[in-house]
Amino acid sequence: MMGRNQSVISEFFLLGLPVEPEHQNLFYALFLAMYLTTVLGNLLIIVLIQLDSHLHTPMYLFLSNLSFSDLCFSSVTMPKLLQNMLNEDPSIPYAGCLTQMYFFLFFGDLESFLLVAMAYDRYVAICFPLHYTTIMSPKLCLSLVMLSWVLTTFHAMLHTLLMARLSFCVHNVIPHFFCDMSALLKLSCSDTQVNELVIFIMGGLILVIPFLLIIMSYAQIVSSLLKVPSARSIRKTFSTCGSHLSVVSLFYGTVIGLYLCPTASNSTVKDTAMAMMYTVVTPMLNPFIYSLRNRDMKGALGRVFCKKKTLFSL
Ligand SMILES: *[C@@H]1O[C@H](CO)[C@@H](O)[C@H](O)[C@H]1NC(C)=O
Repeated sequence: MMGRNQSVISEFFLLGLPVEPEHQNLFYALFLAMYLTTVLGNLLIIVLIQLDSHLHTPMYLFLSNLSFSDLCFSSVTMPKLLQNMLNEDPSIPYAGCLTQMYFFLFFGDLESFLLVAMAYDRYVAICFPLHYTTIMSPKLCLSLVMLSWVLTTFHAMLHTLLMARLSFCVHNVIPHFFCDMSALLKLSCSDTQVNELVIFIMGGLILVIPFLLIIMSYAQIVSSLLKVPSARSIRKTFSTCGSHLSVVSLFYGTVIGLYLCPTASNSTVKDTAMAMMYTVVTPMLNPFIYSLRNRDMKGALGRVFCKKKTLFSL
């Protein structure tokens, strides 16, 4: 495992989930089912939105991007976890570990930026309904999506390059089920001060600024509702913003829970449970939150499905 100069570790070992061996199969089945649900649910949303021209509105195009990001986010960690649970070969090469970390950060941030774009879209739809189509032009939507990709590439690249500078000497067992950035920092034998500082500053910027922007959009929405309060406008706002608000609460709820309730020094179980929450549960629930209560999505399902049926019967 060690190179001649004692500073090269070529692979890491992922400790996986803290479950008893006799429960391994049960958890394997559970996570496989959750992962398949995530993949199929999000794919269904992407396909429906692409196929049904009624859904080619900014809100649904952003939603389709969010589903894509959810799909990729859980595919960064879940297949490796499932594979580890199956054949008990928990090793991951050094480069694989950094790649996993890069894409984990990339799709995690992308989700946070897309939630801001969606909040802005709801703000324009409710506060400037007459100018909605001119403000939220396809060009602006595309620019917002591109901007999210650029920012998130920069952020994930920054952390990955800083991590690549570090050397790993003796310890190579990661007490987690994926290459988590903070778990890797604890294993390093170099000075990690710069990394920690950058994580602290960028983490703050990447989480707090989007969160504040979302709060600001909703503050505007609520204040415009209060100017002319009517049961109808409140119901309308709730039906168009309810799903977005649920996803935002789920996303920031887990993130805030993770950072505001610092874990005891080696409570791996709680860390892992929280990580499970945002890598598996959140991406799985998003499609359901958006489609179960949503008349447009159900209509699209009907239209796409019936069109197929008439095509087949011709
Ligand atoms: C993402 O959003 C852009 C701009 O609205 C849209 O053109 C594109 O089709 C979306 N991508 C996906 C995968 O839904």
